[in-house]
Amino acid sequence: MSVAEKVVLITGGANGIGYAAAWQFLLNGAVVAIADYNKEVGQQARDKLSELSENIYFYEVNVADENSVKTMVTKVLEDLQTIDVLINNAGITRDSLLVKMTEEQFQSVLDVNVKGVFHCTQAVAPTMIAKGKGVIINTSSVSGVYGNVGQTNYAASKAAVVGMTKTWAKELGRKGLNVNAVAPGFIETSMVETIPEKVIEKVKQQVPLKRLGKPEDIAKAYVFLASDDAAYINGAIIHVDGGIVL
Ligand code: CAA
Ligand code: NAI
Repeated sequence: MSVAEKVVLITGGANGIGYAAAWQFLLNGAVVAIADYNKEVGQQARDKLSELSENIYFYEVNVADENSVKTMVTKVLEDLQTIDVLINNAGITRDSLLVKMTEEQFQSVLDVNVKGVFHCTQAVAPTMIAKGKGVIINTSSVSGVYGNVGQTNYAASKAAVVGMTKTWAKELGRKGLNVNAVAPGFIETSMVETIPEKVIEKVKQQVPLKRLGKPEDIAKAYVFLASDDAAYINGAIIHVDGGIVL
């Protein structure tokens, strides 16, 4: 399962799943660019990851902002010449029950989780199309496929990610690109720390494996999908959730 020397751009790479992914790709010999909104944590992540490999770069970006994305992608291409793999991993939650959800909570989640994925893919795809090869991996969620209490905005955004993934698998597959999504279950990152204790206990009980996922569980699925071993996988939504919805 080789991703050696591939140039991998991971949004939201400063923390959680994105950071674990950067770690796994570096372990497997890739060149990794992490792009994140949080400059301070992003630079710390780069410094820590550089203990593993010197092939690690950090770029500041707000994926919700088209110009910020264009600037970031231009810099990555200047520094690293190409992008072989794009992982649209950056995402946020603003949970609230439907009746209490504000327009701002709804919109901010769509801006990052939907428009962010659109901006990054639109900025990176031309380079891949020109090469006739490339991999795009989007991050959906169990919430986007099955819904989740308190996540009207987030579930809508992650369902949109499924729709974009399947559309791009058709539209870009013709150009030699593979486009897939990973739909994680509940994974131990700062994102699940917002869940009240009584709810998280219920979640753990629903998972046949009786545990939350670890960031590495998702990172390894990203590496597989980025590798040549996944060459015939296109338009798939890979569920990495411990079987929570069985
Ligand atoms: N699953 C099942 N039931 C849930 C639930 C969930 N995920 N979240 C809330 N509930 C239930 C509560 O147990 C509660 O039930 P009762 O009325 O029977 O007590 C009811 O919904 C209302 O909840 P609260 O009393 O907590 O109401 P609130 O207005 O104070 O807060 C909330 C509502 C903001 C939705 C809060 O409950 C919450 O944060 N819940 C967790 C939501 C969640 O699962 N978010 C996932 C974050 S991780 C992530 O998003 C990653 C991913 O992709 C999965
Ligand atoms: P996290 O909160 O630990 O990390 C998310 C990273 O994205 C942070 O570094 C943050 O700074 C960055 N980010 C947020 N907004 C950004 C923006 N506008 N521009 C650039 N970067 C931005 O979250 P986690 O858990 O690692 O999530 C990664 C992805 O996995 C997200 O898309 C999330 O929705 C998805 N996911 C997470 C699950 C979980 O249980 N943790 C479950 C299912 C999906």
